[in-house]
Amino acid sequence: MMSEALRKAREFEQANAPRVPETERPVFHAAPAIGWMNDPNGFSFYRGECHLFYQYNPYSTHWDTMHWGHLKTKDFIRWERLPAALAPDNDYDRDGCWSGGAIELPDGRQLLIYTGLRKTPGHDGAEQVRQTQCLAVGDGRDYEKYAGNPVLTAENLPEGCSPSDFRDPKLWREPDGTYRAVTVSRTEDDSGAVLLYASEDGFAWRFEGVVARCRNEYGKMWECPDFFPLDGRHVLMVSPMEMQPSGLEFHAGYGAACLIGRYDPETRTFSRENAQSIDYGLDFYATQTLETPDGRRVMIAWMQNWTSVSCQPRGIRCYGMMTIPRELSVRGNRLIQNPVRELERYRTEPVRLQNVPVEGEVTLQGVRGRVLDMTLSVSPASESGYDCFKVHLAQDGERVTTVRYKPGPSLIRIDRSRCGAPYDIVHVRNFPVRQRNGKIKLRFIMDRQSLELFVNDGEQAASLLLPVPESADGISFETNGGAARMDIEKYAIELP
Ligand code: FRU
Repeated sequence: MMSEALRKAREFEQANAPRVPETERPVFHAAPAIGWMNDPNGFSFYRGECHLFYQYNPYSTHWDTMHWGHLKTKDFIRWERLPAALAPDNDYDRDGCWSGGAIELPDGRQLLIYTGLRKTPGHDGAEQVRQTQCLAVGDGRDYEKYAGNPVLTAENLPEGCSPSDFRDPKLWREPDGTYRAVTVSRTEDDSGAVLLYASEDGFAWRFEGVVARCRNEYGKMWECPDFFPLDGRHVLMVSPMEMQPSGLEFHAGYGAACLIGRYDPETRTFSRENAQSIDYGLDFYATQTLETPDGRRVMIAWMQNWTSVSCQPRGIRCYGMMTIPRELSVRGNRLIQNPVRELERYRTEPVRLQNVPVEGEVTLQGVRGRVLDMTLSVSPASESGYDCFKVHLAQDGERVTTVRYKPGPSLIRIDRSRCGAPYDIVHVRNFPVRQRNGKIKLRFIMDRQSLELFVNDGEQAASLLLPVPESADGISFETNGGAARMDIEKYAIELP
């Protein structure tokens, strides 16, 4: 039987989502039906289609008591909206159904695992928070909470881990059929750890070990873990809170970190060989990955940052979006990411130009827009090179967002300080890229209110939202201190 809370959410979205103007949503990125979206949840295949759930508040464009919203897709580009999947309607999750994962069971049902949040007044009047892991089972549209909930509680925590911060289970099935899940918890040193759990049937879970401890090295509490093998290594992804920068490698605050290393399943030890930011932009958090039926590891994330969520345009009814799903690989010690290849099917209105000289500021016919896929291959026009190369986007007379490359220090800078955003939050990031004698390849994916930049075929990515009216669609190119030449390949993206 459907609970009152879920019925109310479904009725609300059914009545109101069709009234959200389509121009408020991205064209080809996952976005909520209405209201607010944060983390991706349950990103997985079920009966041959990719399902994506998300942290969801249908009733306003702000975070509140979390539901699970629901989308699905056949190609990662065209998203179909499904009714809300979970609502807080039991004692153990009455204050929210927080992040988690999903999997297809051998009997054809879909299993969801999520964190149930429950607050109670403590003895001293202070609020006590309990986070437990809970299950729901369904058919890809309707779900029933499991009668044995919660399935992981304080009793399943190793010593020193806090039941008030015990969340975000992500699960998968091993080749031998056992289920495994990772969660995060806060440790006694006030930082985070990733915990490993195992189950034979997906319903009865036991603690197996600690995969990694933060030890206050990469932020404090970690959120939203994922752990998977890739190209002969193991990758542990976490979203740390209160991160501190290390040179230009991480930035302060909420970040997303990727630890690449080796995992020994016998001793259950993960040895880290590299740590890097997953994305070098302004808006990126809470990654989840899946493996496609054709063997690709694909990642999605919330294209937002908890510190900039207040930067909402006025009067909107729908706020939040995911990144474009990205194909991952590991090269050397580093993560490589590129937009899913399915995007190429939706390219239209091609502009392909070669050896375009850029000296001073240049605009090109047919090169403008806010829903596009554009790749530039830039090189110095002569041996004397250039000091810097800039791409100005989302511009009109007043507003502009700039991506700048300086070959000297081999640094990219993204700057949306003059994009028209209502608040003076952090709008600039710098990050180093591989030195290639003034050559650089930049791919821009824009979808109305967002920009994702991929550098040198996915060696780095940088994501940012552009709270800018769509009419600001000008693009220009500029060099200072010398000239460059570029090949350009630009397409509009259109869904029929
Ligand atoms: C990360 C997060 C998760 C939590 C969810 C709540 O953005 O804080 O740890 O499950 O959001 O909405």
